[in-house]
Amino acid sequence: MTTTLPFIHRFEPAEAPGKPPILLLHGTGGDENDLMPLGGMIAPGSALLSPRGKVLEGGMPRFFRRLAEGVFDEADVRHRAHELADFVAAAREAYGLAAPVAVGFSNGANIAAAVMMLRPEALSGAVLLRAMVPLTDAPAAAEGSLGLDGKPVLLLSGAMDPIVPSDNAARLAALLGASGAEVEQRVLPAGHGLSQADVNLARDWIGRLAPASA
Ligand code: MLT
Repeated sequence: MTTTLPFIHRFEPAEAPGKPPILLLHGTGGDENDLMPLGGMIAPGSALLSPRGKVLEGGMPRFFRRLAEGVFDEADVRHRAHELADFVAAAREAYGLAAPVAVGFSNGANIAAAVMMLRPEALSGAVLLRAMVPLTDAPAAAEGSLGLDGKPVLLLSGAMDPIVPSDNAARLAALLGASGAEVEQRVLPAGHGLSQADVNLARDWIGRLAPASA
């Protein structure tokens, strides 16, 4: 289903009551279709909302601009995080959704982390697959508590990830934790790509979340 909301997106309504809605955020070169099957596997019965990133890099959709691999245009990260949070608010109203749990992969995980930092009210939690720190001057340090109190975050990192250094992922876990999120980080024997262990861990973690209330 599509509406006139300001991102190209796909939406599948919930098939079971009380399941947390899921915001699917694809990686570089993906689109709104990419993670729909993953969403169905890890959050069966949940509503799925899947926007397409608006930034193009050599024709490949992304959620914010980067200057090089792992080097981000942080002004754009901030701008795009607010734009995405505004989309989530509009989609919640249009579709009657509770605050979603973001499930982001790679660039999608990085924008999800930025939304958690800048607009914590937009999300009720996040599964961050192969994420890294999206902002060097994360607002936790500059602006005190971020209102992430108790929000659950599952960070799944790859021990052999050539894009995300392990100390960077650990720093992201620490930053979100210092802002009050309940962070669980697992480092898997994997690279940047997803493995079956990611699917199993994400499904079990989402299954343990409290029922959603709109
Ligand atoms: C990013 O640009 O967000 C990260 O380098 C991950 C990627 O998309 O390759």
